[in-house]
Amino acid sequence: MQIQTGIITISDRASKGLYDDLGGPALKQVADGYGWQVIADALVPDEKREIQRAIRELIAKGCELILTTGGTGVALRDVTPEAVREIAVRELPGFGEVMRAESMKITKNAILSRNLAAVVERALVICLPGKPNGAVECLSFVVGAIPHCVEVLQEVPTSC
Ligand code: MTE
Repeated sequence: MQIQTGIITISDRASKGLYDDLGGPALKQVADGYGWQVIADALVPDEKREIQRAIRELIAKGCELILTTGGTGVALRDVTPEAVREIAVRELPGFGEVMRAESMKITKNAILSRNLAAVVERALVICLPGKPNGAVECLSFVVGAIPHCVEVLQEVPTSC
């Protein structure tokens, strides 16, 4: 399924140009590999309003799936889950549960991550860690459920 995909990097430092955004390009590469079409991206600081605006803009551009990287940790500036929950129609707790459980096999710090997935309008928004490796790994743990979820949200006829 060619999923129209958007990618948002959420990072104070990358948005100020203090370091290069590595997470966004890493996610774009794997999204291409999954056969999805990346049609838009954004780079925003760890600010709830900016995160929410970027999600709405990517949905308006036609994104059915939005991958975010960053802002899911315990630092006080990490507000991605709060920003997404405020505009979500519903949360899909299974995504965060699986991402944390599988990531715990790789790093003990995975217990600190607040990865989640939620529905905003008709789009599936998946919030991944900021570390490029972590984002790619977490996406790989849940990728199997994404096409069906997007089909249901877009009301494409499905077999189950
Ligand atoms: N999950 C996987 N699979 N691999 C990782 O390297 N890093 C963890 C965690 N989840 C990691 C991971 C770390 S170090 C943190 S602090 C949290 O994700 C939150 O990341 P964020 O604050 O960059 O979003």
